[in-house]
Amino acid sequence: MSVIKVAILGFGTVGEGVYKTIQSHAEELERVLGRKVEVAAILIKNKQKKRNINEDVLITSDFNEILSLPQLDVVVEAIVGKEPTLTLLKQAIQRGSHIITANKEMFAHHGNELFELAERHKVSIGFEATVAGGIPVIQTLRQLLNVNRVHTVQGILNGTSNFILTEMREKKQSFADALSLAQKKGYAEVDPTNDVEGFDAFYKTMILSRIAFGEEPNWQDVERVGISSITSELIETAEKLGLRFKHIASINKTCSHINAAVKPVLVGKSHPFYSVEGVENAVNVHSDIVGRITLQGPGAGMFPTASAVIEDLVYVCQNQPSNKNFTITTAENNEVKKGNKIE
Ligand code: HSE
Repeated sequence: MSVIKVAILGFGTVGEGVYKTIQSHAEELERVLGRKVEVAAILIKNKQKKRNINEDVLITSDFNEILSLPQLDVVVEAIVGKEPTLTLLKQAIQRGSHIITANKEMFAHHGNELFELAERHKVSIGFEATVAGGIPVIQTLRQLLNVNRVHTVQGILNGTSNFILTEMREKKQSFADALSLAQKKGYAEVDPTNDVEGFDAFYKTMILSRIAFGEEPNWQDVERVGISSITSELIETAEKLGLRFKHIASINKTCSHINAAVKPVLVGKSHPFYSVEGVENAVNVHSDIVGRITLQGPGAGMFPTASAVIEDLVYVCQNQPSNKNFTITTAENNEVKKGNKIE
């Protein structure tokens, strides 16, 4: 029986989680796919670092060695930043491998480019892990809500921000201590500015917009505010009034215009996100036939993200058309609104 050969790029929280899950769920993968899944190679930065990886796996910091493998069915990307990630993924597609990415920043900027290339090379792209951690929101929107007309999508899309707001309210932790704990738990980005200033949620929102509405707003028109200005005093005052701060992304389509914003919002007990606490994410979709649906679950961390990647592994191996409902459009101005450092 033939084997599905996988390479993992990066062995941080996500890469390691994917590697472990391929081992721990080997039987389930074989049952669903009818073939064994084998990690053939792992791309790492520092070869000296000690890692718990089987001896028969190629561990290298040279991607050409991976591209030269006689068989390479799927490349899972779990590194940060736009480059060299984009270049590596393009090379993988050109070699004929399906790709799976967890990289929101790269994918929000270059998803269309990758889809065009993947279409030419007849391979699939999995990107479930780019939005809302372990919650299968991409598949739900593109596979299960095809006929429904989506009016609005709202979400808590950054686990780190929600975790910090919860720790500050429940445990009276300072912002700095709560952020440091989120980093220790592997929730935060390498540069946590991405989390606390709303960039991470912004990229996820743009990806969701393309899936839900087939297009995205002009990035410059999107209000993006993070949680860094929410003080313990503000949280306490809100609590006394029966309100909680939640960092909420919202997208809605009116006529042919898409409006989106990513910012802290005060919500009361009746709001579906009021009780979404800790590292949880939630996505609320309002569409014409079904009405409102809320999906909730872990939004960051090793195994929730690995879960999204592993489900994508099945999806790409079954060679689904990856650009279904992912209309190829180019935003008029593909730059995040300036301020708070990252642009
Ligand atoms: N830093 C991200 C978050 C990781 O906290 O949501 C998952 O995308």
